Amino acid sequence: MNNLITIEGLKKTVFGVGAICSISSECRSLGASRVMVVMDRALSRSETGGRVQDVLQGGDLEIIPYFEVTPEPSPALADNGAAIAVEAKVQCVVAIGGGSTLDVAKAIGVLFTNGGKALDYVGLNLVKKPGLPTIMVPTTAGTGSEVTFTSVFTMRETKSKGGINSPFLYPHTAILDPGLTIGLPPLVTAFTGMDALTHAIESFTSLQAHFMSEPISLKAVEIISANLRGAVFKGGDMAFRRNMLQASYLAGLGLAMAGVGAVHALAYPLGAFFDIPHGIANGLLLPYVLEYNYPGDMAKFARIARAMGETRNERSDRDLAALAVKAVRNLAQDIGVPLTLAELGVPEESIPEMAEAAMKVTRPMENNPRPMSTAAAIEIYGKAFKGR
Ligand SMILES: [Fe+2]
Repeated sequence: MNNLITIEGLKKTVFGVGAICSISSECRSLGASRVMVVMDRALSRSETGGRVQDVLQGGDLEIIPYFEVTPEPSPALADNGAAIAVEAKVQCVVAIGGGSTLDVAKAIGVLFTNGGKALDYVGLNLVKKPGLPTIMVPTTAGTGSEVTFTSVFTMRETKSKGGINSPFLYPHTAILDPGLTIGLPPLVTAFTGMDALTHAIESFTSLQAHFMSEPISLKAVEIISANLRGAVFKGGDMAFRRNMLQASYLAGLGLAMAGVGAVHALAYPLGAFFDIPHGIANGLLLPYVLEYNYPGDMAKFARIARAMGETRNERSDRDLAALAVKAVRNLAQDIGVPLTLAELGVPEESIPEMAEAAMKVTRPMENNPRPMSTAAAIEIYGKAFKGR
C-alpha cells in the first residue's frame, strides 16, 4: 500500500500587501500571548525588521526575541532557541525572515515539546509529538519553508547537511506579505528565486509527483519564468514581488507533496563543504542537472518549456524538452547567477568527494526523473566547474 497519496499541510494562509498587520491577531487566535519571535540579527536591525517589530509591539503581546539566526544554520541555533523558549514558557513561535530563520523556528517548535537536541531528530519521522504552533512570515520569495515539513541544518564538523523531516513541522499559519520583500537586494532576489524555480521544476519532475502536486508545481514554473527578471531588475514593483511570493509558496507546496531531486542533492555538499548559500548552489547547478535529466522524462520537460513560454512553433517533445533547459539557463544568466563552480572558488579536486556526499542525499536522489550514478554526479559537477 505504499503507493497511497497522502496530503497534509499547514492550516492557514494569510496573503496580501499589509498581511503583516494581522500577526498579533493570528497569535491571539492561537491562544498565545507570550510569543517567541525568531529573526536574524541583520533583519532585526533593518527597516523591514523594525516595521515588523513595531506591529508586534503594538499588539499587546509579550515578545521573547531570538535574533541569533545565521545563514545555513547549525542545529545548535535551534537548541539554544528552544532552551530560551522553554525557560520563558512561550506559547507560540513566530519566524520572520528567509529559509534559515523559518527552519530554525520550526525546529524550536518541536524541540519545545519533544525535548532533546535538534540533531536527535535529523532524519525522517523521528519527532514523536506535535510542537508549539508556529507562524511563518517569509521575507524572501524562495525557500517555501513556510509550507514545508522540513528544517535543514548544516553540520560543519562533519561537513554535511541534513533535515528534520516530520509532519509535526508543518507550520500552523503562513503570513505572506509581498511588501516585506520589496527591499530585498537584486542578487538575493535572484538566488532565492532560483531556489523556488528549483523546487517547482524538481517537484514537477519528481517520481513522487501526483495529480495534486503537478499542476501546482507547473503553475509555479510559469509564474517564476514570467516574473523573476522583473523582481530582480524592478524590485520596487509590487506586482512582480506579489507574483514571486505566490510562486515560491506554490513551489513550496509542490515540494512538500512531491519532494525535490538531484539538484538539491548536488547542492548540499556545496553548502556543507564551502558554505555556498543554498539558492546560489541550486541556481548554478539547475541547468546542468536538467541537461542530464531531460531525456528521463521528455514529456514533462516539454510541458516545462511551454510553461516558460517556449511555444514559438509546433515542435516535438524532445525539442521542447531541450528548450526548457535552455530557458532555465538563459534565466539564470540574465539575473546574474554565477555560471561555474570555478567562479565560486570551488576547487576542482573536491569534485569526487562532493559526488560521494551527494549520493548520500538519498531521498532527493530517489525522486530524480533519471537515475544518477556517482560517475554521472562527477560528470555534472565537472561541467558545472568549467561552464559546459
Ligand atoms: Fe531549496
